[in-house]
Amino acid sequence: MKKADIGLIGLAVMGENLVMNMESKGFTVAVYNRTVEKVTKFVEGRAKGLNIIGTYSLEELAANLEKPRRVMMMVKAGQAVDDFIEKLLAVLEPGDIIIDGGNSHFPDTIRRCAYVESKGLLYIGTGVSGGEEGALKGPSMMPGGSPAAWEHVKPIFQALCAHVEDGSPCCDWVGEGGAGHFVKMVHNGIEYGDMQLICEAYQLMRDYLGMTADEMHEVFAEWNKAELDSYLIEITRDILAYKDTDGEPIVDKILDTAGQKGTGKWTGIAALDEGVPLTLIGEAVFARCLSAIKEERVAASKVLSGPCVKFEGDRAAFLEDIRHALFAAKIVSYAQGYTLMRAAAKTYGWNLNYGGIALMWRGGCIIRSVFLGKIKEAFDNNPELTNLLLDPYFKETIENAQASWRRVCAAAITAGIPAPAMTTALNYFDGYRCEKLPANLLQAQRDYFGAHTYERLDHPRGEFFHTNWTGHGGDTSASTYVV
Ligand code: 2AM
Repeated sequence: MKKADIGLIGLAVMGENLVMNMESKGFTVAVYNRTVEKVTKFVEGRAKGLNIIGTYSLEELAANLEKPRRVMMMVKAGQAVDDFIEKLLAVLEPGDIIIDGGNSHFPDTIRRCAYVESKGLLYIGTGVSGGEEGALKGPSMMPGGSPAAWEHVKPIFQALCAHVEDGSPCCDWVGEGGAGHFVKMVHNGIEYGDMQLICEAYQLMRDYLGMTADEMHEVFAEWNKAELDSYLIEITRDILAYKDTDGEPIVDKILDTAGQKGTGKWTGIAALDEGVPLTLIGEAVFARCLSAIKEERVAASKVLSGPCVKFEGDRAAFLEDIRHALFAAKIVSYAQGYTLMRAAAKTYGWNLNYGGIALMWRGGCIIRSVFLGKIKEAFDNNPELTNLLLDPYFKETIENAQASWRRVCAAAITAGIPAPAMTTALNYFDGYRCEKLPANLLQAQRDYFGAHTYERLDHPRGEFFHTNWTGHGGDTSASTYVV
């Protein structure tokens, strides 16, 4: 019997669907699962008659693979991955490739990659996005790890992943070590931000403009036809039209407490570690946290009062303003996400291809959108672009949207409607384009209470000064330190 092109461990929905997808592209796949009954169930069920080989031990899995062996794990992130790596090392040989397609945290992938390489094997940690349907029909894939492994998995990954209109695959080599899982993590953070922005637009329409779900459905349907065209706007449009059994919009009956699995949080932590202002994603994570304390909010709503402003004016014009505000804030969110990736690339020594990342996200994944095509263009035009806001297209777009964006933020604040992501994006924009921030005063404060010293506008950078502010603190400064 023909040996398999690739082995896959972990027959939960994502794993099974990936196997079906690989097989449909002409690859033979050997499968294994800890609970081996699932192997039997799969090969005698969905996989019956297909080029899928069921195996009942890791030895049998290894024996059924072409060399160099490629084994992909689609198992629960955490200890299960480490356990399988250990067991696989016992049955594989140097040159073979272990792939983790789960949602692993990138520091784990950095560690595992180095460990597997130290044993003479190759390692790939790959982000796989697009949920169950993506896994089956074509996910976005973000592989990183041992560079030498890429040529061996490239034909499989680029066949099974999503493709954009011109046929380009939404999968390319991201970088060394944990780069693939890092980029996947940022993808998830951006997803949090995109969702929060849509929710803020929705709340403004619902609570400020007093619109019904059906009316909002129409608005999102329109928005999806232009520059906001994206999977998340599309599903929002459909959600708003979806009726419960009694004919009422189901969205109106859903409890307003959001859950989270932690990838947004990881992105925020990575940004704090890198010292990168990733404010929009941060607000999106915190907005979920605030939503989660429902009982406390209900109690507070009876105690704390705010303005009661109802919209008066041209509704169609204000809806246009919201559309512009959403788009402008979205640009800021991606600009921030890209600066995080740039900073991490420097820290970890990754040579990231930023246009390539936009292409990977262009199709298959949750944040897929037309907009990502523009980001790809921006980085293709200038791979060294420091900030997306400086790209000519985005600069012009944000300038055109600016007046609307300010009107929406001002209206939200005046009306007492929370819009944390839209407003933080505007604050970042204003801070980033501000030549002179008030940090001169901040440095003075630090020098005053801690003798932390400051640099001066009228002296070259790198010269540090201390002032004896009180006349009795002495002239001794603390050694400079970076927080
Ligand atoms: P199972 O079917 O034996 O539970 C998603 O949960 C996948 O990860 C499943 O294939 C599951 O195997 C596997 N998995 C979860 N935890 C595991 C562990 N600790 N060891 C091995 N496999 C595990």
